[in-house]
Amino acid sequence: MAASTVTARVCETTSCSKDAKLQCPTCIKLGIPGSYFCNQECFKSFWQEHKKVHKKAKNEAKTIEQQLLEHQKSLWAGVRFTGPLRPGTVPEMRTVPDHIPRPDYASHPEGEPLSERAMRGNNSIRILTDEEQEGVRQACRIGREVLDIAAKTIGIGVTTAEIDTAVYDACIDRQCYPSPLNYYCFPASCCTSVNEVICHGIPDSRKLEDGDIVNVDISVYYKGYHGDLNETFFVGNVDEKYKKLVKTTWECLDLAIKEVKPGVRYRDIGGVIQKHAQAHGFSVVRSYCGHGIHQLFHTAPSVPHYAKNKAIGVMKPGHCFTIEPMINEGTWRDETWPDKWTAVTEDGKRSAQFEHTLLVTDTGCEILTRRLEKDGQPHFMDLK
Ligand code: MF3
Ligand code: CO
Repeated sequence: MAASTVTARVCETTSCSKDAKLQCPTCIKLGIPGSYFCNQECFKSFWQEHKKVHKKAKNEAKTIEQQLLEHQKSLWAGVRFTGPLRPGTVPEMRTVPDHIPRPDYASHPEGEPLSERAMRGNNSIRILTDEEQEGVRQACRIGREVLDIAAKTIGIGVTTAEIDTAVYDACIDRQCYPSPLNYYCFPASCCTSVNEVICHGIPDSRKLEDGDIVNVDISVYYKGYHGDLNETFFVGNVDEKYKKLVKTTWECLDLAIKEVKPGVRYRDIGGVIQKHAQAHGFSVVRSYCGHGIHQLFHTAPSVPHYAKNKAIGVMKPGHCFTIEPMINEGTWRDETWPDKWTAVTEDGKRSAQFEHTLLVTDTGCEILTRRLEKDGQPHFMDLK
């Protein structure tokens, strides 16, 4: 007997098994094999299900870039924004060369900092050994170098993604892992927070505009230790009222740092900050706090920036933590964009922030992230 394979063409409609002679014209056009139907009625009744095959084929033909754009579009469809700022597109996430030491979350599929999570609910504050103090000191010094490099890139027409690229490159050059990268899946190497963004803005394709204010938050991981700092910058000519907001925010941090010494309760820091902010008609963000930092990125103590808080702990020599007040023009209330990161003011008015990492000494504190030029003054105060 001659061998001949006969492929029976059976109608694709799930409940049908009749012989099929018709082929879907769209599938022919898209080059999808199969897709045979017994008659027009069967084809029509199965259309809702069958057309998914077309969508799948079209998607596979799209570039990753096109798919990203569509994902972004659906993510932001119907969102009510609190202010004028709109998100741009976020570039693909970077990887860090294997030879650079990385924190645990860097390689975790969900970006979970397991070492940090193991300490959750433990309010004890580590006293760092001399060796550990030198570790955070070095990380903070490099963090400062990286922020100073980021500062040079800022200007009208520059995208926040370009700032992020400069930050990434500066970190890699210095054998640092950029701490934000993949922290709970954060997609970039730093946070860039424009205008009404309070913190955790994701660098994207939006160009900075004349009159914007932008905070750049840098954290680096160097030889097993994190360092963390941020500053708010002016873009072009900034309205006097926003300059006042930024200046007051810097003063809030400065005044708070002057309080730091052994014996002071962490809960007392917020009172100094709120008093100064309120005296200028501004409000203090309550959802985000300063934090302990060393081998862990965020740990005890929690340091609220508002008055009458219930923070736990008393400062001791060898404690290392951040103070990072976020001060708003209008309401202190915040909400988060659907990207699950970007914190914005609920009324769309502007917000500013400054951050330092501090080491408690016997008599006060060492500002580990201090600027080495200009007597430690922030960049926005530089004469142009
Ligand atoms: N540097 C921020 C802080 O001050 C945290 C940024 S982590 C990120 O605590 F994942 F949100 F980027
Ligand atoms: Co911080």
